[in-house]
Amino acid sequence: MLIYWAKTKKLYALDYRETAPAAARADMYIRDGKPDEELARVGALAVAVPGELAGLEAARRRFGTMKFSALAAPAIRLAMSGYPLNPHMAHELPMVAPIISKDPGFRAIYFKPDGAPFHADAILHNPDLGKFMQSLGDDPVERFYHGAIAEKIADFVKAHGGILTAQDLAGYHPIWRDPIHLTYDGYEVYTMPPPSSAGVVLEILGMLSGGDVGGLGVDSPAYLARLIEVMRQGFIDRAQYADPAFVKVPLATLLSPAHIAEARDRALHHAPPAPLAAAHDHGTSNFAVVDRDGDVVEVTTTVNTIFGAKMMVPSLGLVLNDEMDDFGVAPGVPNAFKLVGEKNNEVAPGKRPLSSMSPLIALKDGRPALAAGGSGGPTIITGVAQVTIDSFAFHLDPERAVRVPRVHMQAEPDIVFVEQSLPFHTRDALTAMGYRLKIVPELGAISAIRIRPGQLRGAFDPLKGGGAFGD
Ligand code: GLY
Repeated sequence: MLIYWAKTKKLYALDYRETAPAAARADMYIRDGKPDEELARVGALAVAVPGELAGLEAARRRFGTMKFSALAAPAIRLAMSGYPLNPHMAHELPMVAPIISKDPGFRAIYFKPDGAPFHADAILHNPDLGKFMQSLGDDPVERFYHGAIAEKIADFVKAHGGILTAQDLAGYHPIWRDPIHLTYDGYEVYTMPPPSSAGVVLEILGMLSGGDVGGLGVDSPAYLARLIEVMRQGFIDRAQYADPAFVKVPLATLLSPAHIAEARDRALHHAPPAPLAAAHDHGTSNFAVVDRDGDVVEVTTTVNTIFGAKMMVPSLGLVLNDEMDDFGVAPGVPNAFKLVGEKNNEVAPGKRPLSSMSPLIALKDGRPALAAGGSGGPTIITGVAQVTIDSFAFHLDPERAVRVPRVHMQAEPDIVFVEQSLPFHTRDALTAMGYRLKIVPELGAISAIRIRPGQLRGAFDPLKGGGAFGD
């Protein structure tokens, strides 16, 4: 969570990333001498200590004006009296149905009595989640992380072969951190420090800063080739990011003008191709709020992949995350997003896995000008960077900025992922330049609010549902 607080004119970063349980070990996903990545994605060993509730409550205590129970009331109402299944999720359900329909909790919510998944707009209910949220009262941290609820979660995970304990939950703490920052074409751009790798967004912006890309055309091959190459360099540097409590991340170097200039030069280099495909991320959500006082909050939240570990604690209606997959399960082994495991990001007890979540707030002349963020694993990094460039260098309105066809390059594999809406002639021009393209329906989902004096314009990516509302 990234916060701009109008009273102090300062930015605050709140890290409520999950942590590895105390019994976690670097070799916990090795079986018969070989890494078994699936164990970090599906089932009880995939579950990291959840941080969401502790983080939301830390933000509420520091900056909030309402009680927790009042804030939770609309969500409780929806869980109890029903909410429509959105078309995006209805589209995804059949693909994961063979796995999640085996889980009694998911089966009760997402499947009809005959076993078929519900269709879009069906009204779903999760009364157990409603009751659980109600039971948190105005003391959510004490009641969730200590006592009967923590025991229930730990017992459930243990019964399914996991290692998360009630002590792990009791020991969880969110961390207030200093946001990281870079000047980009006259804007002061702030985002999340490690254990997020959002510094890569700043590096991409830095490499394009002052290059007058605005004159090239937002979907011109010349601009896109430059963008692809700076993305590649940014992702090469992503390997240096990890939980700062375990690894010294050389942020001052990575974001220094000298390193950015050197990376910009390296952006001319091409590596040999590797045959891998991108994964989808449907377990992440992003939202931004600007209030009447001018405060801005930008939040990215995740259970990692779709339906997390594909397990629900049935009596709580609670989906368990598969956030352990954001660690490298072994050096050289790719995770669900084809991000290759690095030593820096290996599993260790109490460690936070490296994240791509990149909530961003940009200021102009000391006042907020843009809030942006998104979902989509590593495509968050490149998506947030592109929407920021489209807003500032190409002067696009947010509606257009979030809909411009995006490209994504993460160094490995050496493939440029391209949204299918990118015009054919542009695709052909990139192919002629020697890029291997993989055409995909969409690359993440980015939402943004453009903030100007007296005017707010919110935009969301229609591919994943969502909305923009104001009063
Ligand atoms: N779970 C996706 C991320 O944090 O990058």
